Amino acid sequence: MSNNYLFLFFYLFLVLSCNSYQKPVESQLPENLDEAYKMKYTQYLIQGKILYNTNCTHCHQNSGEGFRKLYPALIGSAALMVDMSQAACLIKYGTKATRKALNQNIAMPAQAELSNLEIAEILTYIGNSWGNQSGFISVSQVETLLVDCATY
Ligand code: HEC
Repeated sequence: MSNNYLFLFFYLFLVLSCNSYQKPVESQLPENLDEAYKMKYTQYLIQGKILYNTNCTHCHQNSGEGFRKLYPALIGSAALMVDMSQAACLIKYGTKATRKALNQNIAMPAQAELSNLEIAEILTYIGNSWGNQSGFISVSQVETLLVDCATY
């Protein structure tokens, strides 16, 4: 192998190892995904983390552990892992009176400005980080999750 090839090999190695598709360390990615799906999944994790950091960490914390009795942990949250409609509806519309009655006195604010794509990215990130494993959440799944928000 000539030096040129060695250089090219090294350069490719650098580009591949430093590309922008490195998932956040706290997030899981299933194995054996095909390349295109893996790229999309990773992109949602990365975008989701950015949106989470901007819109959610001041209450739920970077670690997803929440804050004492004020803000619930997202790790192992049933609203996220068992009935994801609750999580999607909470993000979009916040805590409603019905839920507040059963819950703590503190409400989660609505974030109606978030698009369905942004909610899909956030759910993909929080649903697959800190040990949560909900899999990839698409925009069309979010549309379905948001259909019945009146019941929450
Ligand atoms: C001002 C603080 C605050 C912010 C900002 C906030 N939340 Fe919340 N969140 C809460 C509170 C309080 C609750 C509990 C209220 C409830 O269950 O109705 C909650 C509940 C949740 C739950 C349900 C947890 C469970 O198991 O009951 C999820 C999921 C969630 N939030 C995700 C998010 C995401 C994602 C964001 C950002 C887009 C966000 N929250 C922003 C305060 C906040």
